[in-house]
Amino acid sequence: MVPKIVILGVFVADTAYRAKRQPAMGETVLGESFALGPGGKGSNQAVAAAKAGGDVHFITRLGDDPFAQMARDTWNAAGVTPAVRVDSESYTGAAYIFIDDATGDNAIIISPGAAGRISVEDVDAQAELIQGADVFVTQLEQPMAAAKRALEIAKSGGVKTVLNPAPAAVLTDEILALCDYVTPNESEAEGITGVPVKTPDDAARAADALMSRGVGAAIITLGAQGVFYKDRDTALHVPAITAGDVVETTGAGDAFNGAFAVALAEGMTPENALRFGCATAGISVTRLGTAPSMPARAEIDALLAAN
Ligand code: RIB
Repeated sequence: MVPKIVILGVFVADTAYRAKRQPAMGETVLGESFALGPGGKGSNQAVAAAKAGGDVHFITRLGDDPFAQMARDTWNAAGVTPAVRVDSESYTGAAYIFIDDATGDNAIIISPGAAGRISVEDVDAQAELIQGADVFVTQLEQPMAAAKRALEIAKSGGVKTVLNPAPAAVLTDEILALCDYVTPNESEAEGITGVPVKTPDDAARAADALMSRGVGAAIITLGAQGVFYKDRDTALHVPAITAGDVVETTGAGDAFNGAFAVALAEGMTPENALRFGCATAGISVTRLGTAPSMPARAEIDALLAAN
C-alpha cells in the first residue's frame, strides 16, 4: 500500500539571489545570479514526500494569479494532489532568498499572501482528508491557529503527527502535546527551549526540554552534523549523508521532513527513517532550488545502499 501523507502549509514563488554578501540597509550590491522557482516549506515537503513514494495531499490557499499556476504545475509534475481554496482577494506569496555564493547558505523573507489567511474553517473542511492519512505534517508559515486545529483533528483520528516548527515561533505546551514528532533545526530548537544548540550533546538537552513539554519524539536537524533523535526509549545521533558538493542548502530541511514522513508511514524504524530523511536532504543540497532539488525514490534508495 502506498502511504498516505497529508500536509498543511504554504506555497510561495522563491526568488533566489546568489551574491557574495547581503546588502546593508541603504546599500545595493551586484548579485551573481537570480532564479525564480517553486517554494514554500509545506509545498516543498509535499513535493519531497511525493517523489519519495508517498500518496501526498497538500492543503493550502492560493491567489488567482501566475504564481498559483506555478504551484499547480509543480504539484502536477511531482504527483501531489492539491486541496486548495482559491482566495482571489489576496495573492500567491513569494519569498526573497539570499544565497551566499561561497557556502550555499541562505537567509529568507517570506510573504505567504493567500496562504497566510488559511483559517480554522479551511482546516475543518479538510477533516476527513486529514483523518484518512497515515501521517499528517505541518509547519508554521500559515497561521498557528490553523496548524493547531489540523494537529487536533489528526491526533483525534489516530494519525501520526509531525510539526516542523519553522519559522521559529513561541509554542504552547498544548500545541506541543499534539505532536508525535517535532523537527526543529538548531535555531528553532533554541527558540522553543532556550537551550543553545550547536552540537549533538546540546541537541540532546533541547530534546529533553521538548519531551518534558509533551512531544512524543524530538528530532533536531543539525545541518552538516546530521540529526539528533530522542523518544522515551531511544536516543540517536544519525550523521549527515553526503551525495556530492553542496551548492545550495535551501530546502534541505523540507527534503528531510517530507522523506521522513514517508518513511514513518511505511513503518521504518526510527533509525532507518532518519537515514532516509538524511539521504534525501543530502541529495537536495547538491542541486539548485528548493522543490526542484527533491530527489526521486530510486536516487534515495541508491544513496542509502551505497552508505
Ligand atoms: O525551507 C525553504 C523554504 O522556506 C523556501 O522555499 C522559502 O519559500 C521558505 O518558505
